[in-house]
Parts: sequence; C-alpha cells; structure tokens
Amino acid sequence: MRVAVVGGTGRMGAALAWQLSKKNEVIIGSRDPARAEVAAARLEGVRGLGNLDAVKAAETVVVTLPFDALGSASDLRDAAKGMLVVSAVNPIVLRGGLLVYGKETGSAAEDLALALPGSRVVTGFNNIPVRMLQGELKGRLDVLVAAESKKSYEEAARLMRTVAGLNPLYAGPLSEAGTVERITPLVLNLARLNGTGALAPRFVSRAEVGPGA
Ligand SMILES: NC(=O)c1ccc[n+]([C@@H]2O[C@H](COP(=O)([O-])OP(=O)(O)OC[C@H]3O[C@@H](n4cnc5c(N)ncnc54)[C@H](OP(=O)(O)O)[C@@H]3O)[C@@H](O)[C@H]2O)c1
Repeated sequence: MRVAVVGGTGRMGAALAWQLSKKNEVIIGSRDPARAEVAAARLEGVRGLGNLDAVKAAETVVVTLPFDALGSASDLRDAAKGMLVVSAVNPIVLRGGLLVYGKETGSAAEDLALALPGSRVVTGFNNIPVRMLQGELKGRLDVLVAAESKKSYEEAARLMRTVAGLNPLYAGPLSEAGTVERITPLVLNLARLNGTGALAPRFVSRAEVGPGA
C-alpha cells in the first residue's frame, strides 16, 4: 500500500513510518516539507512531503497529529475523500497527577471523521507506546480498530498485519472509538503507578489461559 503519515515527523509518526515502510511505500507528511524530507531521509525508501501532498500521493492515510492539532486536518478533506484514514490520536490531559481522557463526549477519531467527510476514519495504534514500535516487536500486540464498516476494518487490518507482531482486533463501529482511546491514559497510568515500564494492552483468549479447552 502507499501510505501517508500525517504528522509523520513526530515520535509516533516516525516510528510507524519505519514499521510500515518495511512492506509498504510510505510518505512522511509535515506542515513543513523540508522537515518531512529530513525525517524521511533517516528511513530507507521513505519520501517526505507537505501533509497535503503526502495525502495526494497516497492510497491510505495514518494520522499521528496531537489532538489539539486535529482542526488542521480539514485541509486534507478533498485529497482524503474515499480513503481509509487510520487515527492514532488520543486526547489526553494531566489532571490531579493522573493522565485522563481529554474529551467529555465523542472521540478524536469521530472529530477527525467530521473534519474529513467522505473519508473512512478508523482507530489504530492508539494504545501502543511509541517505544515499543521503535524496534522489532518480539511478541504479539493487539491493535484495536473501531471502524464504521467491517470492510474498512478489514482494509485497516491488512495494513496493520504488514507489521510483524501486530494483531488487529475489530472493536465495533466508530462510536466505540472513545472506548479505544480511553485505554491509552489507563495503560500510561498503570505503567507509572506500578513501575512496569511502558505497557500495551494484549487480550488473551480462554484457549491461552484456560481453564479447560
Ligand atoms: N507517543 C506515543 O507513545 C503515542 C502512542 C500512541 C498514539 N500516540 C498519538 O499520536 C499523536 C502524536 O503523538 P507524538 O508523541 O508522536 O507527538 P509529537 O512527537 O509531538 O508529533 C506530532 C507531530 O504533529 C505535528 N504537529 C504538531 N503540532 C501541530 C499543529 N498545531 N498542526 C499540525 N501539525 C502539528 C508535528 O509535525 P510537523 O511540525 O512536522 O508538522 C509533530 O511532529 C498523539 O495524538 C498521540 O496521542 C502517541
């Protein structure tokens, strides 16, 4: 697939660009094309362009913008029409010493879907700490995908499976995106409060842990 990473010069964007570039053609997007070129030059076979040109050159989009910057996504509206757009965006704020979900209602992915009418926005990669993506994955990591249709989920899952170790799971329609995004502050707090180092959610089946068959 030809994948544009919007906000791809950031920590999460660059890590995903690297992981995805092993099996896909990746274009890093930035507000500043020169910054995108610098980030892309660190990765083999990756190009860097302005965010809009990156989307124009792609078939699929991954968005790794800060939540506060989502308003700028409406500039991509025409270019992203009909495309699968994977949102890794989490609204998180620090309150009373804890990280908490930063929206009263809805979700970042639903906000993005409103900014990009005609695109197929799904969640993806939200709960995976960037540090786990900066090297080869040694084990399985689940990727929760809220998607308006099963077809969009399956398209996102095909992209995610191009990264060895990633295991996409369908989380239901886009109205479930807030549930998916809320897991991120939870795992960040769990890691800090329990001194475990970075954590990511991994779901186990009864077949794995029993009891019985
Ligand atoms: N870090 C993680 O572990 C992690 C894990 C899962 C999900 N996420 C999510 O991924 C997103 C990015 O996180 P990050 O840690 O990669 O952040 P980051 O390092 O700050 O990168 C975000 C990128 O977005 C662009 N940007 C910043 N402000 C902008 C604005 N006002 N308008 C347009 N573009 C802007 C910047 O690129 P240019 O300046 O080049 O345009 C920047 O490189 C967040 O929503 C976060 O919740 C992060």
